[in-house]
Amino acid sequence: MPPPQPDVLADALIRVPRHEFVPARAWAVPQGAGTPPAAASGYWIDQHRDPDRWWRAVYSDSVIVTQLDGGRTELTPANAAAPSTAPSCAASSPLLVTAGLRHLAVRPGNRVLDVGGGTGWTSGLCAYLAGDDTLVTTVEIDPDLARTATENLARCGLRPTIVTGDAGAELPSSDGESDGLFDRVHVTCGVTDIPYVWVEHTRPGGHIVLPYNPPIGRLLRLTVHEDGSATGRFGEECSYMPLRSQRQTPPDKSATSHDTQPRHRSLAVGTESLLHPAPGLQVLLASLVGDEPWVNGSGNVLLTDGVSRATVANDGRLTQTGPRDLWDEAESVHRAWTRQGRPGLDRIGFTVTPQRQYVWIDDPSVPAAALTHDTPLGTSADTATTVGASLD
Ligand SMILES: C[S@@+](CC[C@H](N)C(=O)[O-])C[C@H]1O[C@@H](n2cnc3c(N)ncnc32)[C@H](O)[C@@H]1O
Repeated sequence: MPPPQPDVLADALIRVPRHEFVPARAWAVPQGAGTPPAAASGYWIDQHRDPDRWWRAVYSDSVIVTQLDGGRTELTPANAAAPSTAPSCAASSPLLVTAGLRHLAVRPGNRVLDVGGGTGWTSGLCAYLAGDDTLVTTVEIDPDLARTATENLARCGLRPTIVTGDAGAELPSSDGESDGLFDRVHVTCGVTDIPYVWVEHTRPGGHIVLPYNPPIGRLLRLTVHEDGSATGRFGEECSYMPLRSQRQTPPDKSATSHDTQPRHRSLAVGTESLLHPAPGLQVLLASLVGDEPWVNGSGNVLLTDGVSRATVANDGRLTQTGPRDLWDEAESVHRAWTRQGRPGLDRIGFTVTPQRQYVWIDDPSVPAAALTHDTPLGTSADTATTVGASLD
């Protein structure tokens, strides 16, 4: 048997210990399916009052929230638990950080850009992996967080370049190289539109790893090409707080549409085919429709973008309101996915060019949206009824 290979990432997690980046008082949110319901929304940790609880949280797979509402709301147990507040900085889930860094594959000597410095922890890990802290540049939009990250990193003996600014708008160049490009870009804020400036600042052959967020997030690993495009594939499901410039109020899923012309029909594709979609279908629904079917408290199946709404009642009758026929769109996506042989994540990817960005199946030059233009509903063999015929 070959001797076990040293795992440099495991070394990094030991040499850049997470506890140096977690404040004495914070809000821990356990991750993973095994979390007891009572703890799922989070709990307060205080290193001085209950050190055991604090250490257990720091070395568990928990997101540790360190700031609320961009610092405008004080981090207290009551505020952290309140549904009206939003976390704006956290030490991310160790399992997701590890997954992201494995995808990023930082090699010694790589120049790394860490977007969303936060506590500084991932910048420290990148510095260890690159073998030299001067190779790492961190961009953090919040000056207070940038200061704390600098202090936390200094306690570990690390001094990467920390720049305060909006990484979605403008980027610093990497230090010391004439072309100023980075070999790796590591992002820990959720992204809906990938700022092309990240591709521009990455050396051809280099990688960008980011949480692609709509509406079920997944890690996305892009490789930058000589022609200025970047292509890549999706990895683990994830949930990250969005890049500040792309923060949107989430759609009000309970809002009722004021559309006066509800459209009714029965289903062409049964709800069971669209509920709990396989990962490949899920990525397509998320990026092309913007929602995936879910069940509300009354047992109805819904799709909504906050304005348009599709509701499948318990008797199977579909009602669509608003400017978009969301269930029609979801059925088209399902048909395209089925026609293509139900591709999984190994066949689905993402392309970014200066002009556009899109999800694809098999061919990085063909947007998947082009594959969903199929036989109009009402004429295909598997379509049961007429679109737009009101049953009221
Ligand atoms: C999940 S936290 C990052 C966690 C961090 N990598 C760590 O190890 O602690 C997301 C961070 O991204 C920062 N951020 C959000 N939008 C940004 C932007 N447009 N440019 C730079 N930083 C941003 C937030 O202020 C926050 O600190």
